[in-house]
Amino acid sequence: MSNNIPMLPLVKVAMPPKEVLMPALESVLYSGMIGEGEFVYRFEAAFAEVFGLKNVVATSSGTAALHLAMLLSEIEPGDEVITTSMTAEPTNTTILQMGATPIFADVDSFTGNLDPASVESLITNKTKAICVVHYAGYPARLNDLRAIADRHGLSLIEDCAHALGAQYDQKPIGTIGDYAIYSFQAIKHMTTIDGGALLLKDSAKIEEARRLRWFGLAKGVPRTEVDITRVGYKYNMHNVAAVIGLKQLEFIAPLLARHQANGRYFDQALQGISGLAMAKYESNSKSAYWLYTLLADDSDAVERILAEQHVMASKLHRPNHFHSVFKEFARALPQLDDFYKQLVHIPCGWWVSDEDRQRIVSALKRG
Ligand SMILES: Cc1ncc(COP(=O)(O)O)c(C=O)c1O
Repeated sequence: MSNNIPMLPLVKVAMPPKEVLMPALESVLYSGMIGEGEFVYRFEAAFAEVFGLKNVVATSSGTAALHLAMLLSEIEPGDEVITTSMTAEPTNTTILQMGATPIFADVDSFTGNLDPASVESLITNKTKAICVVHYAGYPARLNDLRAIADRHGLSLIEDCAHALGAQYDQKPIGTIGDYAIYSFQAIKHMTTIDGGALLLKDSAKIEEARRLRWFGLAKGVPRTEVDITRVGYKYNMHNVAAVIGLKQLEFIAPLLARHQANGRYFDQALQGISGLAMAKYESNSKSAYWLYTLLADDSDAVERILAEQHVMASKLHRPNHFHSVFKEFARALPQLDDFYKQLVHIPCGWWVSDEDRQRIVSALKRG
């Protein structure tokens, strides 16, 4: 193949068409109202409507939303949060930010998602919450995790940063946990440049969540009359991000559908290739396929074979306990080791054409 062919990327920024986005963006930029305001509240309502959600609080990032979820879970310094190491780092740096201890549970070696049996075995009287990530967009075993959280009186926090559009038990992802977060960072399914959302199961907590995202102040009450009773943060989304989000939502359905169609195509077309397996998830769920997860006897060879076809493939993430800041919390995670050794992600997003996906399958079949 010629060297001039561009690499098919693993992730790609999606933007609405210029002629739709730019007039809307320009009108907000010059409106004199660029901070948190009407567009943010409209974005919260539209996001909820499009995905069938309730109690959405828009934030400056997914990390900010995670921090809010942990604050609302009343996690205190010294508490333990059972979590996964197989994720992007913010899932776990946020636990350290709370002064809490991340307890890394093992994962299912066929998805990289938390193994409920391992989670339950690690519960102590210091455990406050379980933080579950739907890694690469594949839903974790939420029924089991919900039952464990209920049995032990724990908060269940769903990190849905990879999983926009996924479903579990015919419900939108994020609605089984007590809290869920989404990320609208640059390379996610949907971006507002940076941004996030917190979802609350308990609508009674929404005012507190809103105060915590704004220093502890109640919006709409004159500063001279308001009293901060709990320290909050500068975690609000602003109108500029929100108007981008509103325009993104007009185009999100076909984009998510293409991720899922490509993912299902690979699920079928890659069957029966020696040395390769696909991530398997529960039949009551639908993956968002942010990334496609392949499990290969030789993951380096898969990267090499696809690079020759100008297709990027990689593990993309690093188990968090490999980082120095998490070393003291490292423990034996044999299933994670097994998963990580075999892991290789291949592109399956909206930019992957029919021709691209056939090229990927043919190359992997040739081996
Ligand atoms: C699994 C996971 N959790 C949390 C985050 C944090 O989101 P953000 O970058 O919007 O702060 C990310 C994204 O980087 C992520 O991939």
